Amino acid sequence: MNSGFHFKTKAELTAAAEAAGVDLPLSDDLSVLKTPRRIEDSDITLKNSLTVHPMEGFDSGPDGAPGELTFRRIKRMASGGAGLIWVEATAVTEDGRTNRGQLRIARDNLDGFKQLAEIAHEASDGAPVILQLTHSGRFSKPDNTPKPVIAMHNPVMNETMPIDPSWPVVTDEYLDSLPEKFGAAAKMAKDAGFDGADIKCCHKYLFSELLSAYDRPGRYGGSFENRTRLFLDAIRAAAVHRDRHFVIASRFGPVEMIPHPWGFGMARDGSLTPDWEEPDRLYRLMHDGGVRLVDMTLGSPYYNPHVNRPYDNGGYEPPEARLAGVSRLIDAAAHMKKTVPGITLIGTGYSYLRAFAPQVAAGAVSAGMADAAGFGRMAFAYPDFARDILENGALDASKVCLTCSKCTAMMRKIHATGCPIRDREVYLPMYKELFPKE
Ligand SMILES: Cc1cc2nc3c(=O)[nH]c(=O)nc-3n(C[C@H](O)[C@H](O)[C@H](O)COP(=O)(O)O)c2cc1C
Repeated sequence: MNSGFHFKTKAELTAAAEAAGVDLPLSDDLSVLKTPRRIEDSDITLKNSLTVHPMEGFDSGPDGAPGELTFRRIKRMASGGAGLIWVEATAVTEDGRTNRGQLRIARDNLDGFKQLAEIAHEASDGAPVILQLTHSGRFSKPDNTPKPVIAMHNPVMNETMPIDPSWPVVTDEYLDSLPEKFGAAAKMAKDAGFDGADIKCCHKYLFSELLSAYDRPGRYGGSFENRTRLFLDAIRAAAVHRDRHFVIASRFGPVEMIPHPWGFGMARDGSLTPDWEEPDRLYRLMHDGGVRLVDMTLGSPYYNPHVNRPYDNGGYEPPEARLAGVSRLIDAAAHMKKTVPGITLIGTGYSYLRAFAPQVAAGAVSAGMADAAGFGRMAFAYPDFARDILENGALDASKVCLTCSKCTAMMRKIHATGCPIRDREVYLPMYKELFPKE
């Protein structure tokens, strides 16, 4: 593992940002983070401008229903004072699960999801709770062994997760069947008591992989209309169930930082320069289709995790200053907020900043660069982060996430995950068993 530099004072942070050539928004007035945010065309309001990102725990029962550790995780995060809780990736089909511990929603296990929504509502004292719906595509391992469902072969993605060239590409007929399944899953999420369903399109899971299926023949490849068809059809199928108390949301990654033609939202010259023309078009169409809430992200954790979640310690040394990664996430959110102001936009990139996250979040939110700041790894490590920011005006430096990547290392072993550093009682023994030499 590689170790990054970490700043201890605001002056060190500012100097590091300057050295990285980036300008981070910073504000010492954190009161803006107390602002509630009503979602357009609904009666649903984020209680404040801090949220919990979707964070998988790989701890479901074999049928995909939430397990005891799922309830514990969501309860801890929901009771921490955040204004909205976004529940993790939940497969809508059995073959689209990343592993046997991934949540899967179905009519015959809906009671577990009802219980999960109830726990989250009660623990958060009524914060909105969103359920993320997904098909894991090339990362599917329904029986814990790889059974990729691929829209295309991708030599760049093969660098980190090779797929045999003889493996079949998924048929148009299979893809045709998915919008109805996402619509039905959205209805189940509504029946279970969630306040919204997220049609996930990011990180190179199936819907986002299709966005760059430039060479795929047929209805789902080639033109912009074809590549975005499945995602937009799924949004429309889910939006049938939309009303004042149930929103359609999306975890959306507009730019993959994977060179064209293997990644979406990138310059056609094959460089790592974003090209916002197609992402902006798609973002407007998402709004037309009924999406009113987005939790944004970039990159793919399987290919360029430093883009998606800047870290101090991880599998490789990032090819850029870590604060450049944080800044890319914050600036991309600002771009999206400007493109479609009517979508309530949650930004990301804050956990890396440890105790300085509140100042940067307040800087971004007060400048209108996002409506709210979302926290992922921080919520695992420090579930009370929002309460401490809102009530004490600061995070406790001894409780913050260290971006050490141990949570993801556990995931990669297809094991239940959490924070082995700050939630040691439960997750340290598991971590030691998985990594006895560390
Ligand atoms: C252990 C782990 C599980 C994650 N699970 C999900 C998930 O289920 N859905 C999703 O959209 N993103 C998932 N992510 C990405 C996070 O939501 C978030 O985008 C990322 O960690 C960056 O935010 P942070 O810097 O606050 O951690 C996961 C990340 C980690 C580390």
